[in-house]
Amino acid sequence: MRNFIINSTLLLSVLLIISCKQETKKGIVPLSNSISLKNESEIDSLISLMTLEEKIGMLHGNSMFASGGVERLGIPELKMVDGPLGIREEISRNSWASAGLKNDFATYYPAAGGVAATWNPELSYTFGNSVGQEARARDKDMLLSPAINIIRTPLGGRTYEYFTEDPFLNKKLAVPFILGVQDNDVMVCVKHFAANNQETNRGTVDVLMDERTLREIYLPAFKAAITEGNAYSVMGAYNRFRGDYLCENDYMLNKVLRDEWGFKGVVVSDWAAVHSTVKSLKNGLDIEMGTPKPFNEYYLADKLIAAAKAEEISEEEINKHVKRILHVLFQVKAISGTNRVKGSLATEAHYKDAYDIAAESVVLLKNEKQILPLKLDGVNSIAVIGNNAIKKNASGGFGAGVKTKREITPLEGLQNRLSKNIKINYAEGYLERYSENNNDQKEDVTHNGPIPVNELDPIKLEEALIAAKNSDVAIVFAGSNRDYETEASDRTNLKLPFGQEELIKKVLAENPNTIVVMIAGAPFDLKEVEKNASSLVWSWFNGSEGGNALADVLLGTLNPSGKLPWTMPKNIEDSPAHATNSFPGDESVTYKEGILVGYRWFDTKKIEPLYPFGFGLSYTNFEISDLKTDKPSYLLDDNIEVSFSIKNAGNTDGKEVAQLYVSNPTSSVEKAAQELKGFKKVFVKSGDSKNVTITLPIKELAYYSEVKKEWVVEPGTYNLKIGKSSRDIIQEIQINIVPN
Ligand code: BGC
Repeated sequence: MRNFIINSTLLLSVLLIISCKQETKKGIVPLSNSISLKNESEIDSLISLMTLEEKIGMLHGNSMFASGGVERLGIPELKMVDGPLGIREEISRNSWASAGLKNDFATYYPAAGGVAATWNPELSYTFGNSVGQEARARDKDMLLSPAINIIRTPLGGRTYEYFTEDPFLNKKLAVPFILGVQDNDVMVCVKHFAANNQETNRGTVDVLMDERTLREIYLPAFKAAITEGNAYSVMGAYNRFRGDYLCENDYMLNKVLRDEWGFKGVVVSDWAAVHSTVKSLKNGLDIEMGTPKPFNEYYLADKLIAAAKAEEISEEEINKHVKRILHVLFQVKAISGTNRVKGSLATEAHYKDAYDIAAESVVLLKNEKQILPLKLDGVNSIAVIGNNAIKKNASGGFGAGVKTKREITPLEGLQNRLSKNIKINYAEGYLERYSENNNDQKEDVTHNGPIPVNELDPIKLEEALIAAKNSDVAIVFAGSNRDYETEASDRTNLKLPFGQEELIKKVLAENPNTIVVMIAGAPFDLKEVEKNASSLVWSWFNGSEGGNALADVLLGTLNPSGKLPWTMPKNIEDSPAHATNSFPGDESVTYKEGILVGYRWFDTKKIEPLYPFGFGLSYTNFEISDLKTDKPSYLLDDNIEVSFSIKNAGNTDGKEVAQLYVSNPTSSVEKAAQELKGFKKVFVKSGDSKNVTITLPIKELAYYSEVKKEWVVEPGTYNLKIGKSSRDIIQEIQINIVPN
């Protein structure tokens, strides 16, 4: 029961969030989240009435996105739906084909990278609550989201689906999202548990890392999802971990997830990630899902009936799994639920939620000559160049695709927001083309995805240069898309695809008033672009309202407040997994960089990134000062109250993300040069100052001791640093931790 009690601080903050959002929301945090004991006897009696076949019918898919129910006893199927960017369209029961419905158009929300770039947990709650409503409107019980794997390599095909390279930011965004979804009588399925950080060989690769790295980097968000977010379901990943597939991994599923963290919900397999019958069940899997084949051929179907009959597995063991499923069905009111949330789909309120997230996600990377926000006085024409100005990104990417009626492209956003007196000269600039010749692919084991054609089409180039020349300002929309960045493959390199680098260079030569806007979910090599362009903006696969939010940032209606949730390296070889030559491995991959993932590596090894973790500019200028702690010295179970002042010294209202990093120079074990341990996004009006406090529990400063097999806070000196990014530290203060 322990894990179903919501942490009180979190509860308070979520209550505050919810109090501002009444319209489509329930308006209360469900304290009834704990699995109700009164269902216990009902569950037992249901189980006593079930045949072995009926029980086993509940343990595997009986359609592409539902596991079986028992109609005669009033037990419904457990109905699932993807995914991370919004509710996926209805799929046929027996194949991946669309069900062809007309009423399943949904809101397309910003991809996780964009959500993370907001550095705003309240918006993560907004997202969860909004998408939870949509899941209910489609009568679903389980949303296959959030996806919270750590971004280990910038080349990862699913980088855009995940939040960040940092475990602290990851958990601070995952938990409110989960609470938001589950406030709507629908459960999350937190995926992909765990150490699923590459697409290359994802179905087989055996991931190896030391225990400390696992605990400090790859598990914290999953742990918080259970112990603070109270997630009712978890998805086992495709890959292996220390020899065993993650859907039959006793250590991860039984020992860590259930015994240590007290997880009481259900473990669902990733689609076709199961490799055994008795072993999977005994080692912690509850429901097997898969890709098209007769459902009775699943490992947890006829084979399990045979194993039970042969007494290779006891009926008691089977009952245990059935019981867990019944628990969560009761929990979301799928069984005997009164007043279950009905939800709503693709409403204006939900599009507004998508807008609000997109609005805080855009990252201003460079604005040297202050071209941005665009000053329109005297501007008669704007060249909008690049296929990404018109490219739609809602669909694609397997389970992360969304069928939507609204996706405002960057070009449409500008058309919506600019006065009709300003002429937009659109030119496609580059073509999204892929090589059909897979020879390069064979030579490069890291690549099993699409290979871009990097030559520009001369006619398209010419059109772009004419548009740039004949316009007062040019904006090039470059980057990638959901075909190039996708599940099931990793990228080969960081290069900008489709000849974009050359295009940008030539457009800049034609018109120095050129702004470059990246639309992408993962880092790219922007060295050349950065050198040549004076203004550089980063946007994401940014949801139904992405184009409007982006136009508002470019035109200054919105002051950008996004910060990078990962490090943008200068070269791929600078990134830890690549510097240690430990990506993608082969049959196995050893995470040789250990705890030094992302900026932890760059800072410790003193490598200059192109843009550091946490980086993002504003149209105004924030000054941070007066860093203080409430005491100089702390005991092991204290909280540190870190306070400081933020002044908006510029002319524009705006939000700043104050970031708290900690170093522990006296540590007896290896530590990263610094680690993010707190942050706060604050709105400050131009000319105003605000006092800000971040509470840092000393237990956040613990490292995982492999010797003691527990978290240890070392007494000693710690430096607390407050900054605007991991490389823009403004003030530093020292505190001591003394033994209790
Ligand atoms: C993905 C999951 C997704 C599932 C169902 C798998 O390929 O890894 O994230 O939820 O398919 O579409």
